[in-house]
Amino acid sequence: MSRHVVATVDEIAPGTCKIVAVSGREIGIYNVHGEFHALVNRCPHEGAALCLGPILARFTADRPGKYRLTRHGEMLRCPWHGWEFDIKTGQSWCHPESVKARTYPVEVVAGEALAKGPFVAETVPVSVEQQYVVVEM
Ligand code: FES
Repeated sequence: MSRHVVATVDEIAPGTCKIVAVSGREIGIYNVHGEFHALVNRCPHEGAALCLGPILARFTADRPGKYRLTRHGEMLRCPWHGWEFDIKTGQSWCHPESVKARTYPVEVVAGEALAKGPFVAETVPVSVEQQYVVVEM
């Protein structure tokens, strides 16, 4: 699994999402109360652009007519058929045992850490012998 810089922290305010393209896939990067989460922008139901849906609270009811909203800003509703997903886990609340949106690990890294980076391109020794350039691998 490779790492990709997708945004600065300032670009994604709490309660919002930024859709980015990484390796040919659209990913929604969400800021949920200061924590960042990533979901693939494709609904597991019929393939809608899931991350274009509204960010919501979880709606629960103990009995008819008695409802409450919890987990504000942690749920996402698909724009096509209204299935709801937990932004942190990708879990569907329509078929929680079998349907889940793909999630990806997200981390916030200090800029200087990225400048140093753990990424080092592989190098190989090169020498010139007579008129030939030789690469060792
Ligand atoms: S495509 Fe998302 S709920 Fe149907």
